[in-house]
Amino acid sequence: MSADNHSAESPAQPYDQGAWWRDAVVYQVYPRSFADANGDGEGDLPGVLSRLDHLTDLGVDAIWLSPFYPSPLADGGYDVADYCDVDPRYGALADFDALVAAAAAKNIKVIVDIVPNHCSAEHPWFRAALAAGPGSPERERFVFRDEPNNWQSVFGGPAWTQVPDGQWYLHLFDSGQPDWNWRHPDVVAMFERVLRFWLDRGVAGFRIDVANMLFKQEGLPDVVPGSQGGPLTPGHAAVPYEHQPELLELYRSWRKILDSYPGDRGTAPACTVAEMWFGHPDQARPYLTGDGLAQLFGFGLMPTPWSAGEFRAVIDASHRLARETGGSIPWVLGNHDVPRMVTRFGVDQDLVRAPTPEVLLGRMDVDAELGTGRARAAALLLLALPGGAYIYQGDELGLPEHLAIPDEARQDPMFERTLRTFIGRDGCRVPLPWSGVAPPYGFGAGDTWLPQPEDWAELTVAAQRDDPGSTLNLYRAALAIRREHPALGDGDLTWLDAPPGVLAFARDPGFTLMVNFGTEPVPLAWHHDVLLASGPLDGDLLPPDTGVWLS
Ligand code: NOJ
Repeated sequence: MSADNHSAESPAQPYDQGAWWRDAVVYQVYPRSFADANGDGEGDLPGVLSRLDHLTDLGVDAIWLSPFYPSPLADGGYDVADYCDVDPRYGALADFDALVAAAAAKNIKVIVDIVPNHCSAEHPWFRAALAAGPGSPERERFVFRDEPNNWQSVFGGPAWTQVPDGQWYLHLFDSGQPDWNWRHPDVVAMFERVLRFWLDRGVAGFRIDVANMLFKQEGLPDVVPGSQGGPLTPGHAAVPYEHQPELLELYRSWRKILDSYPGDRGTAPACTVAEMWFGHPDQARPYLTGDGLAQLFGFGLMPTPWSAGEFRAVIDASHRLARETGGSIPWVLGNHDVPRMVTRFGVDQDLVRAPTPEVLLGRMDVDAELGTGRARAAALLLLALPGGAYIYQGDELGLPEHLAIPDEARQDPMFERTLRTFIGRDGCRVPLPWSGVAPPYGFGAGDTWLPQPEDWAELTVAAQRDDPGSTLNLYRAALAIRREHPALGDGDLTWLDAPPGVLAFARDPGFTLMVNFGTEPVPLAWHHDVLLASGPLDGDLLPPDTGVWLS
């Protein structure tokens, strides 16, 4: 650790309860698929700038940009070759600055992705390590060994690749993503420079990729067979490359850097939001005490089937953890790594509980209408829960997973690394439909880097803009109410008695959410007004698969 770090004795300094991100709604932009300004079929930063009005109209507080750094795209940009630049296919640093400035003018903060577990095999330090050979100081920045251990890549296959001189390097993801050695001072210092580089450019914080894995247990012991997860089932047992104690000290040192920025655009205190799957709340607790990370994503709802009881269990566990620790766990229903909500909720829910080999290949019946209705109800739940929330681009349009991408068009390395037993994550990364009735639906001028479905004409932003019943307008209305309503945002909730299959909670003052997960209409809870409903109500009855905000 560098000299100006917090020492182990530093008193914990919980984040301010009023920190902006505690109740922020953050919109995830996957730049490659948001909007294409230069017509090359891939989205870019000028594309994001050109569509900023979509985000102001939606009413989000911040955007999180998935990686736009120079990258050979072995893993969609999560293989970073240069942490302090913009890949030419996405624009240039000047485009990034212009985007941050334009967003700030519209009161939208910008969070960037930092990928500290691994870089790209094209990163100059990794190339230098390969060139320098075994035993060189250059190799010490990575994890080279003469013999591999039994670790498996999260993407499938071994976590080690052999280089021509016989040594093996560790990559917990794709072979194009060598893991850094976080016990090397060069690595620590380099990432401190990276944080400062982007903070100097006015970012409001960082989303930290695989924030639980940076340090590996000394000696790299084998994992206990069976304790690693599969493609859609993150591991739940302690493994020797997760949650090592040094992480806490590292994140304290990062916090100190972030806190030293004044945030003259209203961005202070800067946010760190950690991508971290955890099997048990005790694994998460140490990070939430407030002297290091600002937030951990609350991923629990993403793998949860459409069931009142199962939703409630996840909400209770996450909310309890946030209350007990004083930490912040924003809610998430979708991102670029999981199948879209409309599709998850539109299949037999036992297949969400236990995906079969057929499901991993995208072969299942999907009732898109049912899934859409449930996804709309889930959106009202998401935005009524205490704390912050993340919206993945396209969820505000009710996009389904695109399951019919031809194999030869697939880009996600998981497809090949799982020996084609899992179709991968491309289906939720398809370029957004903006207008028109056929691909590329106003995304850009050229063929899109992933094919878009032929039947998305009714899902474009233009098609939904003036339709009061559209999913886009549901999100807009919900966010507009959320901004004004004193009960919404951070705080507490009180569960209300409700019929089986129904979730109902109150938030003070004067707000009630109800979602009917069941199969029969149920009476609305006592109320004065219906603020918003995710679908048509039946008089004073809440139909199945519908959510409502009451006051
Ligand atoms: C998590 C990211 O969300 C995912 O897209 C990526 O493949 C892995 N981390 C590896 O960086």
